[in-house]
Amino acid sequence: MCGIVGAVAARPVTAILLEGLRRLEYRGYDSAGLAVFDGEQLQRLRRIGKVNILAEAEQQAPLKGVMGIAHTRWATHGKPTEYNAHPHMSGDKLAVVHNGIIENFEPLKAALIADGFEFTSDTDTEVIAHLIAQALRVKNDLQTAFLSTVSQLEGAFALGVVHTDYPNQILASRKGSPLVLGVGMGENFIASDQMALLQVTDRFIYLEEGDFAQVTADVITIWDKNLDKVEREIKVFEHGLSVAEKGEFRHFMLKEIYEQPEVVKATLQGRISATKLLEQAFGNGASAIFDQTKQVQIIACGTSYHAGMIAKYWLEDIAGIPCAVEVASEYRYRKHVVPENTLFLTISQSGETADTLAALREVQDKVLASLTICNVPGSSLVRESDLSLMTNAGPEIGVASTKAFTTQLVALLLFTLALARRSGLSEAREAEIVGALHQLPELLLAAVKLDASIESLSRAFAEKNHTLFLGRGPLYPVAMEGALKLKEISYIHAEAYPAGELKHGPLALVDKDMPVVAVAPNNALLDKLKANLQEVKARGGELFVFAGADHIKPEEGLRVEQMPDVPEILEPIVYTVPLQLLSYHVAVLKGTDVDQPRNLAKSVTVE
Ligand code: G6P
Repeated sequence: MCGIVGAVAARPVTAILLEGLRRLEYRGYDSAGLAVFDGEQLQRLRRIGKVNILAEAEQQAPLKGVMGIAHTRWATHGKPTEYNAHPHMSGDKLAVVHNGIIENFEPLKAALIADGFEFTSDTDTEVIAHLIAQALRVKNDLQTAFLSTVSQLEGAFALGVVHTDYPNQILASRKGSPLVLGVGMGENFIASDQMALLQVTDRFIYLEEGDFAQVTADVITIWDKNLDKVEREIKVFEHGLSVAEKGEFRHFMLKEIYEQPEVVKATLQGRISATKLLEQAFGNGASAIFDQTKQVQIIACGTSYHAGMIAKYWLEDIAGIPCAVEVASEYRYRKHVVPENTLFLTISQSGETADTLAALREVQDKVLASLTICNVPGSSLVRESDLSLMTNAGPEIGVASTKAFTTQLVALLLFTLALARRSGLSEAREAEIVGALHQLPELLLAAVKLDASIESLSRAFAEKNHTLFLGRGPLYPVAMEGALKLKEISYIHAEAYPAGELKHGPLALVDKDMPVVAVAPNNALLDKLKANLQEVKARGGELFVFAGADHIKPEEGLRVEQMPDVPEILEPIVYTVPLQLLSYHVAVLKGTDVDQPRNLAKSVTVE
């Protein structure tokens, strides 16, 4: 979703802004723009399409200056056109970039029009520029005007503002949308996330809800929502500066698939001994909360929701704790019953997903406590939850989530162990599961090594328009995740079904043009699944089955991709990898934009 970059420095900032926008491309966008102050006037350039198109236009007519703001726009109010692209200006001195949605923009716009302001876009953002200009007429002070404007805005926003009469500063504020400040030497920055700024700094300040900041080249001053001046900690980005590079890989998605053995080690690091869960990993106060937990309500979106679905199987099976799972956008808008002693668990890669965050805020007072399993330290979900367990996957750039999912599953298994201990899990069973987790990086490596074989398999899908994914038990959500990956990046329609539901409808679709993918590890449900596969075969369907050694024999119309032998508890994690690789290779064959699929955003910070 929309991305913001801003820089105020002693050196030219245009290249920094454009590189920042490139690094935000993964969030998803359809137009881009920047405004740079050249010492006399604000020069603005905006283009539909990719940042490279904007950069080429800038080469033709260079923008020179030491202060500027830039933006990638993901259209919400108004089509993706040049006139709707940010920055938005009021007059020729003031420019604004915005991420989020201003919900009350219509009455604000009507009042501004009545006051003589002319609008040149369909966006909600433009009201912000005019409101500041209007307030400047009353008192000619940018900070006062900015604050009075922010106080009128309802909805979610992260904002960056520059004004030519205040040449060495950017004003910034956030409420409901993410914004970080990058701390340099004699230069400072703002951005939607730290990835945008890793080429210039590794030191960041994460603004809190309602914070307002004045950023000059030398000084950063921050006020909280009560307008009290506050010091916010500077945090050093720990993942090394190369995380934002593809390295030897053709796409970030492939790089991130290959990183899974490593990042899963990082998720486990310090959280398990040879035989036990180290419960302190969940932080102070976690043990007392877990002691009282009688139910778990999981809320998430997209891939993170699929992780939650798998956790439900684990929690009810291993911990014997009732667990409900729901997508955040549904939960937040319906009347729900929250049983006593419910632990509210959000799962999120970004920690900024608007619906998940809203669901947490809505329910916070009604639950025993909240826990988030999240990949971004300092994100809103982490800050607003009582407990957090970081997945430590490192930044994920590909829009289609891969390593975030498998590390979420690892974290969820640790959480399951924590609760299961309280409901009679034997030490031997705990040691068995922990022992399996120690093997996980090796097993993931074995799965990643199937890459070449899966690449050859992918040719059977590239020309197809529909695909069916089947699984049973906790492998059903794995099938859902496989179908989601395929549709996201290859644009092939894919649906997942619990295999037992086949005869209740989807079997009618099966013919030679509808490949059927099944995840079929050697577990108690294998025989049932085999019967389902026969149903497909009998209808002329072409089957692609991921299965353990020798449990399913290849035959005409049934191709078997042999998986490593995996402890049953780890099957959902390891069997995810070949499905990621399958969708990746199908997308490459189809020539789609693998890392930035059309219409999708990495971090959905608006509803
Ligand atoms: C978007 C992303 C998905 C992600 C979902 C939830 O749709 O494209 O990859 O699964 O949001 O995001 P979260 O950051 O909360 O996990």
